[in-house]
Amino acid sequence: MAIFLDSSDLTEIRRFAATGIVSGITTNPLIISKENPGVDLKTHIQEIVSMTKVPTSVELTTETEAEMLAEAREYAKWHPEHVVIKVPMTELGLKIIHTLERKDDIRVNVTCIMSFNQAYLSALAGATYVSIFSGRVRDMGYDPEEIIGQTRAAIDREGLRSRIIVGSIRHLADVNAALHAGAHIVTVPPAILKKMSWNPRTTETIREFNDAWNADRARKKKK
Ligand code: E4P
Repeated sequence: MAIFLDSSDLTEIRRFAATGIVSGITTNPLIISKENPGVDLKTHIQEIVSMTKVPTSVELTTETEAEMLAEAREYAKWHPEHVVIKVPMTELGLKIIHTLERKDDIRVNVTCIMSFNQAYLSALAGATYVSIFSGRVRDMGYDPEEIIGQTRAAIDREGLRSRIIVGSIRHLADVNAALHAGAHIVTVPPAILKKMSWNPRTTETIREFNDAWNADRARKKKK
């Protein structure tokens, strides 16, 4: 199991990279537009990669085969070892995945997956990662854990090489649920990742221990 950071915010990326808990970064056009409006994408992605040296997903924004392949090949050149191309899940997307993975030797993360059949087809096409969107699936009234579990069972049963990333995380509980359901990786927004290390009882216990220690030292000083 592993944790990726779902963000393009350099301050947050630096903060969590320093803890060693993050082994990948995922971005998308919405995240980048919100967190870094007007940014130069190439410079920004290269900065993330040089800071973290982990797989960093960059999403295609074009929609025809020729444009998508050209865009993917351009992004991959920015850092062939660490840039992963996010290809949105469509029938054309399957062809793009297959071409990039098998012919160009470029790693692909298939994104916007909302169902088991989409995840399974993406794995069959040869994607390195298949990204199931937990929060958006739940918004439609379906159970993301069921899709994650079915996808994991198919990958294991058929010896497929794809790794399941669960994204669209809205609550702390979504992270645990996704990992228990069979996700290889959960990509977590910084605000939720911050909450994962915190527990009020832990804070209270640390306070109790250190207060006792400091009181004892103060008494000792007076003697
Ligand atoms: C995953 O790779 C996506 O960036 C992400 O988690 C999208 O989720 P959201 O737009 O529903 O928050």
